[in-house]
Amino acid sequence: MKSVLEFRARKGQSPISMVAAHTHWEARLIADSPVDCVLVGDSVSTVVDGEPTTFSATPEVMARHVAAVARGLGDFSQRKLLIGDFPFLAARKGLEAAVETATLLLRAGAHAVKIEGVDGHADVISHLVQSGVPVIGHLGLTPQAVHALGGYKVQGRDAAAAADLLRQARAVEASGAFGLVLECVPDPLAREITAAVGIPVVGIGAGVGCDGQVLVMVDLLGLTPGRQPRFVRRFVELGAAARDALADYHASVVDRTFPSAKESYGVEN
Ligand code: KIV
Repeated sequence: MKSVLEFRARKGQSPISMVAAHTHWEARLIADSPVDCVLVGDSVSTVVDGEPTTFSATPEVMARHVAAVARGLGDFSQRKLLIGDFPFLAARKGLEAAVETATLLLRAGAHAVKIEGVDGHADVISHLVQSGVPVIGHLGLTPQAVHALGGYKVQGRDAAAAADLLRQARAVEASGAFGLVLECVPDPLAREITAAVGIPVVGIGAGVGCDGQVLVMVDLLGLTPGRQPRFVRRFVELGAAARDALADYHASVVDRTFPSAKESYGVEN
């Protein structure tokens, strides 16, 4: 998938696969895979920098990681749809600041930007869309609002909260967004929202009824240590393989079986 037009056309068709990634090596792997599209998320703060929240990501940090991922995805004309995240409060500083952030992200190689929430900045989404910058919304558990939400919790569990999320999803669509990421909401509510809007809804912890799914690359590769959210499926255990490899490497250095003659240079060859 190379454009937001293809993304939109997938509504109600075959599910969209999206991966959140932050580095060049991840992008190289995704480029050679059938995965549809890539999000350079502000989860870079937690995943790459080990921060407890996503607050430390800035427009400059996001642009740097978008550029690394864009290079890994290859030539501009061949590149999979690449979305760059608006970091903490970047949509709340007025239209001019939002345009600056979008400029950084698109110049770095993103085709589109993702913006958390909608209340109070629907005008920012509309302005970017009217300026030719495709925007995907993000509702439900929006990590940039973690303190207002009282923690990383499932959203929309009671009737009032569910109705409010549905209202926000309609507002995202009305503002001109080409899609919506829906994080950590009950499966029935995600289905209701997916049916209610005309734009594709990509879920993370939102059940199988959405128009697509997104997972963070290091999570799906089994590289994230410790307890994982219920919605994470580890499709492979690369973390365990890496730990074995490190132990093997250490032992090979200590017993001098590494490097071998084949792994060393002679004077002639
Ligand atoms: O920052 C991120 O990686 C995200 C996805 C998890 C949706 O927002």
